[in-house]
Amino acid sequence: MSTSTNITWHDSKVTKQERQKRNAHKSAVLWFTGLSGSGKSTISVALEKALYETHVQTYRLDGDNVRHGLNNNLGFSPEDRTENIRRIGEVGKLMVDAGLITLTAFISPYKEDRDHARDMVGPDEFIEIYTKCSLEKCEIRDPKGLYKKARQGEIKEFTGINAPYESPVDPEIIVDTEKQTVEESVNVILDYLKRNDYI
Ligand code: PPS
Repeated sequence: MSTSTNITWHDSKVTKQERQKRNAHKSAVLWFTGLSGSGKSTISVALEKALYETHVQTYRLDGDNVRHGLNNNLGFSPEDRTENIRRIGEVGKLMVDAGLITLTAFISPYKEDRDHARDMVGPDEFIEIYTKCSLEKCEIRDPKGLYKKARQGEIKEFTGINAPYESPVDPEIIVDTEKQTVEESVNVILDYLKRNDYI
């Protein structure tokens, strides 16, 4: 809830539609969600590169990176994760207004928070992408050694071990990172964006 008072909205002279027209593509948030180690960052990095090379205006927001700056006052309690996702939803909304295809890579474990981000951004401009991967496989990959630490009790509230992950119920796209290569996952997403006239 806003605590700001005496504030007035100022419209710009450049509209979202004009920015999209100049960019020659629609704007949207590609909202990756999935367990740590499921492939959110890897796939979003590869996808952004592919989009960039075809002259799509992009920006990528990644959980680890954003927690170094904008969200460096937030931890991993349920309340802090909700606030993390709320802020990213707001930033995503601004970036959609700026005409960008924004790729967000956050665990975003709570369905309610993701749904709230969808409402903020707008349903036609929010594409939920589930990087599906079993906990067992993520734990084998353990690229940062965090699952091991969590199992040893060194990390409290680690997603999948001692904090929940609520899988998406009806995401626009599922990429199964246990079965698909990074390139195959990228192509599934590019196909979706082309078929639905985003790019
Ligand atoms: S969330 O749940 O959406 O607010 O998390 P997010 O902002 O995406 O940050 C996840 C990355 O933070 C590291 N990390 C943890 N993840 C989950 N639980 C706990 N307790 C935790 N502590 C640190 C981890 O590197 C996550 O990155 P990914 O890329 O998902 O592995």
